[in-house]
Amino acid sequence: MLAGKRVLLGITGGIAAYKIPEFIRLLKAAGAEVRVVCTPQALEFVTPLTLSVLSENPVVHSLYNSHSGEWINHVNLALWADVLVLAPLTANSLSALVQGKSENAVLLTALCSRCPVVLVPAMDHDMWIHGSTQNNVLKAKEMGYEVVEPEQGSLASGLIGKGRMPEPASLLQYLSFFKRLNPWWKGKRILISSGGTREALDPIRFISNQSTGKMGVALAEAAFSNGAQVTLIRTKGSKSPTFQGIHCIEVETALDMQATITRLANQQDVIAMAAAVADYRAKKPAEQKIKKSTGGFPAFHWVENPDILKELASINRPYFLLGFALESKTSIEQAKLKFQRKGVDALALNSLENPGAGFELDTNKMTLITSDSTLELELKSKSEIAVEILNFVAECKIKSR
Ligand code: C5P
Repeated sequence: MLAGKRVLLGITGGIAAYKIPEFIRLLKAAGAEVRVVCTPQALEFVTPLTLSVLSENPVVHSLYNSHSGEWINHVNLALWADVLVLAPLTANSLSALVQGKSENAVLLTALCSRCPVVLVPAMDHDMWIHGSTQNNVLKAKEMGYEVVEPEQGSLASGLIGKGRMPEPASLLQYLSFFKRLNPWWKGKRILISSGGTREALDPIRFISNQSTGKMGVALAEAAFSNGAQVTLIRTKGSKSPTFQGIHCIEVETALDMQATITRLANQQDVIAMAAAVADYRAKKPAEQKIKKSTGGFPAFHWVENPDILKELASINRPYFLLGFALESKTSIEQAKLKFQRKGVDALALNSLENPGAGFELDTNKMTLITSDSTLELELKSKSEIAVEILNFVAECKIKSR
């Protein structure tokens, strides 16, 4: 999704700069054009040669060439970019940026830019939580900068806390989704369920299904990268998102999922039920591991699980409700009947009959159904499909205002 995008990276002098060469490599592999501008302090952590070899472009690190006296045109550099990413951004550079200072090549370029600017602050935990830094983050957001918050983990100081720059793969994921969604999504709360539930047979065994959680995670990452507040209710063993900023709750059974979603439902603007919820559970799972010696696997009495989606649809709801349906064989007519039966606002249908669509694949082919429209999407990556689904939801919401 980054093919042909012009990404301008502004590096400032923090230890996390050591991760930027890898970030450039990933951006280039994704087809982006990359240029780099850095502060003199950044060059203490990473060399211009490394950055220029990987970006395949010269690196700008001063306001003019001290040998030839030639002025470096930062305005052109800033205008070239589709997006400017300041990573890592130190507490000092964040402060200077907010104050409009232009004492180095990165600040000067940021001041001239017209494209969206993404700030990736990274610093020690205490510097991050300091009132001045938090004030600067607030001011930066008010000025229209996008801020990717640092993550929790071990820091260069030896301390553990919030301050780490997200890994290059996460930043790449963020940039691939960034500004791809309708701005309606900014600040909206979305709850997404993903993965397949597990229903116990004994303390060791369970029945489940082939759902991996890839579609749910793609929806969560796309929404998060466009400023939504995302809660992901994911089943044990299913895919996790790359961002720490996505609030994840792990559940196991359909009943766990029902309890968790019911508790959080009314705070949401949108609920997307991408999970494959087991329709039945064993009424009485064995208390001890079932042994081979007991002579054949025992028969279970099955009880029906609650249909969470139907329950969410049946109440007077503040949220837009999106259901998912996967069938081994289905027609649009049957899907429309399911749409009505479930009482949802929209239903995303995928059929296992479509080559390239289904559980473990990275691609999907979907049809989106509402009361007055049917939209067939092309076979695409799950990331692209997530963008289309979320834009479809935003359009439905905007239309209904
Ligand atoms: O009825 P079916 O399983 O085809 O419907 C799929 C949709 O219903 C999905 O959105 C799934 O998350 C949801 N569902 C549910 N509770 C169930 C079964 C399915 O919420 N017990």
